[in-house]
Amino acid sequence: MTAPIPGLPTTRPEGCPFDPPAELAELRPLTRMVYPDGHVGWLTTSHELVRAVLADSRFSARYELMHYPFPGGPDEIPPAMPGDLTGIDAPEHTRFRELLAGRFTVRRMRLLTERVAEICAEQLDTMAQQGPPTDLVTAYAQPVPALTICELLGVPYADHEFFQRTVRTLTSTSAGMEDQGAALTALYEYLHELVLAKRRSPTDDLLSDLTTSDLDDVELSGLGTFLLGAGMDTTANMIALGTFALLTNPDQLGELRDGWSTVDEAVEELLRYLSIAHTGARAALTDVELGGELVRAGETVTVSLQAANRDPARFPDPDTLDLTRHAAGHVALGHGIHQCLGQQLARVEMRVAFPALLKRFPTLRLAVDAADVPLRTDSNIHGVHGLPVTW
Ligand code: HEM
Repeated sequence: MTAPIPGLPTTRPEGCPFDPPAELAELRPLTRMVYPDGHVGWLTTSHELVRAVLADSRFSARYELMHYPFPGGPDEIPPAMPGDLTGIDAPEHTRFRELLAGRFTVRRMRLLTERVAEICAEQLDTMAQQGPPTDLVTAYAQPVPALTICELLGVPYADHEFFQRTVRTLTSTSAGMEDQGAALTALYEYLHELVLAKRRSPTDDLLSDLTTSDLDDVELSGLGTFLLGAGMDTTANMIALGTFALLTNPDQLGELRDGWSTVDEAVEELLRYLSIAHTGARAALTDVELGGELVRAGETVTVSLQAANRDPARFPDPDTLDLTRHAAGHVALGHGIHQCLGQQLARVEMRVAFPALLKRFPTLRLAVDAADVPLRTDSNIHGVHGLPVTW
C-alpha cells in the first residue's frame, strides 16, 4: 500500500469553478489520508465505495467518533445536538426519521409546487422592477428556498438576515469553533423561543404540527434549527451555482429552453455535476474490509461525494455537463439512512426556480467575467458568494 496522502485535496482547478480538485480523480477508489489532527484514516473517491460506506451500519455518523478532514478544524468534534439527524445512528436516528418521513413525502412536497411558483414569481417581479444588473444570490437564489422553508416550518421570514448569517458561519470550514458554537447557540435559542410560542398557540405549520409528537422542547428546537439550516443554504447554492453553470454552458441552456419538459432530468444532472455538498465522513465501529483494504475500528473514512459523482466507471464523460444524461444514482443528496430528507422539497424548488428565472429573463447573462464570480471556497457547501447578472 502506498504512503498516506498528507491531507484532503481542496483546491479546485484554476478556471473551472464547477470541477472538484483534480487530485481526487487520481486517488480512486480509496487511499489512506493523514487528517489535520494527525489521525491516519481514509479517503474514498469511487462511486461504488462511497455508496458502500454510506449504506453500511458498521460505519457510524456520530460526529464525536470522527476526525475532522478539513484543515483548521477542531481536534475533537462535539456530539450532534439533539435534533441534528446527520450526526446520530440508528435506532436514535430512526425515531426522528420516522417522525419526519411522512411530512416530507413526494406527494406533500409536490403540493407545494404552486406556492413555490408564486414565491419565485414575486421575487422575479421585484428583480424586474429594480432592473439590471443585480446579484442573483440575494435577489433570487437565497430568498426562494428561505421563504419556502420558513413557510413550511412556521419561522418568520422577517428574521432571515439573522438566520442566513448564522447558517453561513455553521457551514464555513474556516470559521473557528468559538464562532460556530456561538452561531449554533444563537440559532438554537431563536428556535427555542419559537417552539415555546407554538406550544402556547399553534399555527398551521410543521413546527406546530410537531409539538403534538413525543419530542421534548430541546429536541424540537434542535430539529427546527437543523431543518432551517439544512433547507436554506443548500438549495440557495444549487440555484445560484446552477444558474452560473447554465449561463456558461449556452448550448446546454439552449437545449433546455427548447424543451422544458426535460427539466427534471436537468436538475438531477446539475445536482451530480455540481455536487455542492461535496464531502462527508463516517467512523468505522469495527474492522471493515473495504475495496480490498482493511479499515480498522476507530478510523475515519472521508467520503468525497463530488469525486464519486465524477467517477467515469459510473458516469461516462463525467466532467461534461450533459443535461440529457440519466444522472439518477448520483450521491449529491447522500445515500443510505441519512440520504437527504428534504430532497423532494429541493427538487420541487429547483424544477420551478430555473425555468421561472430563465423564462422571465430570456437574455439573462453574467454581468462580470466568469473568472470574477466570487466562489465559496471555504465552505462545506460549494457555491458562489454573489452572482452578478444582467438582461
Ligand atoms: C441530509 C444534500 C436540501 C434536509 C443531506 C445529505 C446530503 C444533503 C448530501 C446527507 C448528509 C450525510 O449523509 O451526512 C442536500 C442538497 C440539497 C439539500 C445538495 C439541495 C439541493 C435539503 C432541504 C432540506 C434538507 C431543502 C429541508 C429540510 C436534510 C436533512 C438531512 C439531510 C434533514 C439529514 C437526513 C438524515 O440524516 O437522516 N442533505 N440537501 N436538505 N438534508 Fe439535505
